[in-house]
Amino acid sequence: MHYPWWYVPVLTSPMLIAVIAVLHVLVAHYAVGGGLFFAVETSFAYRTGNREYLDYLRRHAPFFILLTVVFGAITGVGIWWTIGLASPLATEVLIRTFVFGWATEWVFFVIELTAAFIFYYYWGRLAPRTHQIVAWIYAAAAWISLVLITGITAFMLSPGRWLESPSFWTGFFNPQFLPQVISRTGGAILLTSLYVYLHSSLLLPVGEVRSLIVRRSTRPAFVGAILITIGGIGWLLFLPESARLALEAAAVLTVLTTLIFALTVAVFVLLYFGPYRNPGWMTPGFAASLLLFGIAAFSTGEFIREAVRKPYVVYGVVLGNQVLEEEVPELRRNGFLQSGRWTRAYVIEHYPQVVGEEREEKKIMPEKLLALPESDRRHLGQVIFMHHCNDCHAAESGYSAVGPILFSRPRPMLVDMIRHLHETHYFMPPWSGTPEEAELLADYLLTLAPERPRGIYPSLEKLENQP
Ligand code: HEC
Repeated sequence: MHYPWWYVPVLTSPMLIAVIAVLHVLVAHYAVGGGLFFAVETSFAYRTGNREYLDYLRRHAPFFILLTVVFGAITGVGIWWTIGLASPLATEVLIRTFVFGWATEWVFFVIELTAAFIFYYYWGRLAPRTHQIVAWIYAAAAWISLVLITGITAFMLSPGRWLESPSFWTGFFNPQFLPQVISRTGGAILLTSLYVYLHSSLLLPVGEVRSLIVRRSTRPAFVGAILITIGGIGWLLFLPESARLALEAAAVLTVLTTLIFALTVAVFVLLYFGPYRNPGWMTPGFAASLLLFGIAAFSTGEFIREAVRKPYVVYGVVLGNQVLEEEVPELRRNGFLQSGRWTRAYVIEHYPQVVGEEREEKKIMPEKLLALPESDRRHLGQVIFMHHCNDCHAAESGYSAVGPILFSRPRPMLVDMIRHLHETHYFMPPWSGTPEEAELLADYLLTLAPERPRGIYPSLEKLENQP
């Protein structure tokens, strides 16, 4: 609320982050797993003197670099860009808490890029031993950047001990750190095998090298899947209580959790009957389906992980409406419009009639707000909506659009709901304004609510219409 709002029509800004983040994550995990793949496999190919396999690895490298370095870097910067606009307060908290974590991450990122380019462009010009060392440097740097980023993003889901004693280390080694490092490492390994299956089945003729690749990638794929499962269970066990309840409460998340389970089983079965038992089955079609199942499971997992954090952008610290949790009592006392830097300036400029003086300071008077004409009340209600609700709800139509989910409640129920926002739903932050501001917001929301359907309960309607 101390920043201007950013309205993304239909999609809402957090959903935009989610879309970019999922695209990024699918590639970023390949960037990490691919590092291990190249390090292990080039070492193997050099050791066994397998020229053909080395040739294949050399052809895989530009695909890998284009996808991870170019697409991965663009989407990675894209995440920064969107979180900065959509959740400026959370971004601020993350930077303040982890500034050296970010700096370290950038160092490893530069090492990673440099090693990737040396590995590819100096292929054939470096002694095999040096070439392998470069691959291992890449692999180590990429995995360390996974660990660094995971510490910071897992902190958002559960800051743990940091809430009592804030420091870089208590924040970094939060309860979600280990489970997520395990599952992300597993994800990196599994996804890489799936990318390798697809790439090799498209590029190589059926033959010895192709079946060698299929055979060699199967074990890591299983190990990856097992790590994901272990990490996933840890994730669930260390979930903050309200996040777990939110997970259980939302029908759509139950459906998605079932889906992710089904998809994981499908990947296991396909891996077992495909590459493990029948390497010959690895046609481009089979490899593409396997990758699609993997990507679907992965994206669903990321979506659930994002969704359960709903009310908080940083659990216990930054609420989804860009308010610090500790600010709420004060906002309720002084008013939402009065407390926000932008809302206050806006109201004082456009509605001088609601401004009074208190100890020689301009103050928005809550009771004067209610005396405004209907259209102004609605307009200010919209201003409140944009700052308080827009982060999670589109207005009339789109992602979680608020109009339809008002269910045409009568006004008093709506006002009551607004004033007890977090008690209505685990997913929502507490109401952060005065009772008068709740009335203004209700004025605006009622313009979005669809007409109450008539004629479903005729006997009750007759009763209501009686004078
Ligand atoms: C942190 C995200 C977030 C914020 C901020 C937020 N909501 Fe919600 N809200 C949700 C989620 C998630 C749901 C439940 C999912 C759904 O029904 O789409 C929900 C549900 C609702 C519902 C339906 C409740 C029901 O089940 O009857 C209403 C009405 C609503 N929100 C209004 C608001 C209003 C008004 C604001 C601003 C004052 C607001 N929300 C702020 C996330 C949020």
